[in-house]
Amino acid sequence: MSASVCPYVLDPDGADTHGETDKLRDQGPIARVELPDGVLAWSVHDYELGKAIMGNQELWSKNPRKSWPEYIRGEISNGWPLITWAAMDTMATQDGADHARLRSLLLRAFTQRRVDAMKPKIEATVGELLDNLAAQEPGTVVDLKGLFHMELPTRLMCDLFGVPEERRADVLAGGHKNIDTRISSDVAEANLEQWQDAITELVAYKRANPGDDLTSGMIAAKNEDGSALSDSEMIGTLHLLLGAGSETLVNALAHASVALMNDPKLLADVRSGAVSWDDVFEETLRVESPVAHLPFRFATQDVEIGGHQVSKGDVMLVDFAGIGRDPKNHGDTKNEFDVNREDKTHLSFGFGVHYCLGARLAKSAWMTGIPALFERFPDIALAVPKDDLVGQGSFVVNGHAEVPVYLEGAPVGALV
Ligand code: HEM
Repeated sequence: MSASVCPYVLDPDGADTHGETDKLRDQGPIARVELPDGVLAWSVHDYELGKAIMGNQELWSKNPRKSWPEYIRGEISNGWPLITWAAMDTMATQDGADHARLRSLLLRAFTQRRVDAMKPKIEATVGELLDNLAAQEPGTVVDLKGLFHMELPTRLMCDLFGVPEERRADVLAGGHKNIDTRISSDVAEANLEQWQDAITELVAYKRANPGDDLTSGMIAAKNEDGSALSDSEMIGTLHLLLGAGSETLVNALAHASVALMNDPKLLADVRSGAVSWDDVFEETLRVESPVAHLPFRFATQDVEIGGHQVSKGDVMLVDFAGIGRDPKNHGDTKNEFDVNREDKTHLSFGFGVHYCLGARLAKSAWMTGIPALFERFPDIALAVPKDDLVGQGSFVVNGHAEVPVYLEGAPVGALV
């Protein structure tokens, strides 16, 4: 097969993330896909190939400024819905020594001690959010995604970075748009500017008002050679972290809640201790990877891969949602949420040098939030059948627009 294979147009609504990957599998371990505005790319859903691609920095660059000819030639406009994924100046768009320098500067501030120190704050936030849920009108349908799954990570990120209350809406606004693959060019362009401005102002504020937070830590951090983050790297890094931390964890929380509400036996087994929360966490990440098709990597040379001819400069997305359901690892039961399966292999936190920096923090928040939710609302139930939940409007992440629930259980006569 060659690059002339007919591209599959990725659905910007994200209406059927897994059904879509099943179709991509017909093309082999990688597939030719079309992104908004006709931009062509590849997508890898095969576990072994995904690992090989993420593990090979020589062959797969993350830097569009060096490795994406269309971007370098100015053919990708600021109004393209995925523009921030290319335009961000962060460790996620750097390779080799440049990537290592940015990552190690961040790690100087984002220490295990800081992650551990967040625990009491996470517990307090979860407690506040559960109190807020308990204060909702009894018997009504509430959107658990809006009131809990989204609130926990966004508050967590803002606490971690010391974002003052009055600046939070502004610095978070762009994160939602970055992953929305339906946005118009006007919205995309305005988003780029809005978020850059909001974060530039935040950095200026934190320079003048340092505190015991990660932004202040990043401002102070220096590498051995005395180099620090430049202003543009600081803005890009904050941009990356606020989005990467909140727009992913929300879906890890939401998919686990849905799986538990949808399967009373599973919930009973977790409650009795027959099944561990750890197993629920891993199986959630495998069956419902919070990230679906992650932009971008670029081929640094012509290469034949998975039976396709990929050319230097071609774009590759990693389909984490497909990798977790690779039939070569999980056979015919790949789509089933089965906490008892021995092999829960997935790559949902990535692989190699770009492996998720927030994995430990994400797990800590999940392990606090999900058990507490089901302890506080033991009868919580979905208010619509699971299959009626609507996609959130993205092929970059794998999530629902809303998760409507009855906190005290479905009223008698409600058809769920
Ligand atoms: C369940 C929640 C999360 C999931 C599923 C997730 C997933 C991922 C994945 C798949 C990557 C690899 C990207 C690639 O190779 O191109 C990644 C990278 C990254 N993640 Fe996460 N993430 C989560 C939570 C977080 C949190 C809470 C933070 C911040 C506190 C964070 C910060 C980052 C950063 C900075 C990178 C880039 C690392 C690099 O390029 O070196 N993530 N994440």
